Amino acid sequence: MAAPAGRIVAVVGATGLQGSAVTRQLSRDGWSVRALTRNPEGKKAAPLRALGIDVVQADSEDTRSLERAFEGASGVFTVQNHHISGYEGEVRQGKNVADVAVRVGVPHVVYGAAGFGHRTDVGSWDTKVEITEYMKERGVPVTVLRPMAFMELMTASKFFPPASVWHVMPKLRGDTRPVGWLAVDDLAVIVSKALADPGRFIAADLPLAADVRSIAECRELWRQANGRRPRRLPMPVSLFERFVGTDETTMWRWLAAHDIDIDTQPTFDVHPEALSVPAWLSRRRKDRVRTSSETAPRMRRTVGRGDGGS
Ligand SMILES: NC(=O)c1ccc[n+]([C@@H]2O[C@H](COP(=O)([O-])OP(=O)(O)OC[C@H]3O[C@@H](n4cnc5c(N)ncnc54)[C@H](OP(=O)(O)O)[C@@H]3O)[C@@H](O)[C@H]2O)c1
Repeated sequence: MAAPAGRIVAVVGATGLQGSAVTRQLSRDGWSVRALTRNPEGKKAAPLRALGIDVVQADSEDTRSLERAFEGASGVFTVQNHHISGYEGEVRQGKNVADVAVRVGVPHVVYGAAGFGHRTDVGSWDTKVEITEYMKERGVPVTVLRPMAFMELMTASKFFPPASVWHVMPKLRGDTRPVGWLAVDDLAVIVSKALADPGRFIAADLPLAADVRSIAECRELWRQANGRRPRRLPMPVSLFERFVGTDETTMWRWLAAHDIDIDTQPTFDVHPEALSVPAWLSRRRKDRVRTSSETAPRMRRTVGRGDGGS
């Protein structure tokens, strides 16, 4: 389905991991994107401004600002982060998005959720169940996407991979237990496809994973892609919890105790080209090599000018 040129999608969380990938993908696919942020002049919004994307001020605690941002939109993508807002804040903000979407008459909301769609006692999954139930009660025309672990957990510094995915996660969850993986860019493709085809996707609730690999397998795939094993920072679980809280450790313990069904079919039904873990690692490696070979001459030129060539 072609994305309707000129039609607007408002993205809540547009400066974040998921939202920025979604914003770029929607823009590439021909949507007019309104990228919402609390701070449009801030550093996180700068790359979106540089792409010519309409960056607008909105705070999900302030429904007036959401109303302005959603006015005239054909779709909304929404995601919240409990690490920033706390569980109660996440739920309050998710419900505000739902209320405003109904009030303004947004025809399609795509919700970036997580978990298994039922209560588990994992805080950041139960918040998503509460928001989803509220959206349904309020009659929001919603598509719920529940990505499993993002492949970026292995690389993005904000997730502290040496301590988290390469140490505490396998310790608590089990090194050889299956994990469902999805690249954030593939989530973005799926969001764009959903928004372009509301008839197919409204009321859908999709668990998303493009590959199933244990941490032990990922470690070996990483070694093959990068020529060395990933860095690991052993630390006691209690110390990890002091830094990042107990949400992830509760989640990994829950996953160790429950056999889960990980089905990649819903992902491939929508996005047949979604990347496996080895394909994603290999693409990341090539991107890094290309970026460093593109920036190196520029850096040399800059140094040459600045230091007088001595
Ligand atoms: N890690 C995984 O494997 C995984 C898998 C599935 C789902 N998840 C879920 O992903 C979610 C986090 O997504 P993410 O990683 O994309 O988050 P992120 O990178 O931390 O981005 C969060 C965004 O929320 C915005 N924000 C924060 N407070 C706001 C407020 N009051 N009003 C409006 N915007 C606000 C921030 O924008 P500004 O600061 O610019 O305002 C930022 O753009 C969590 O709910 C987590 O459970 C994670």
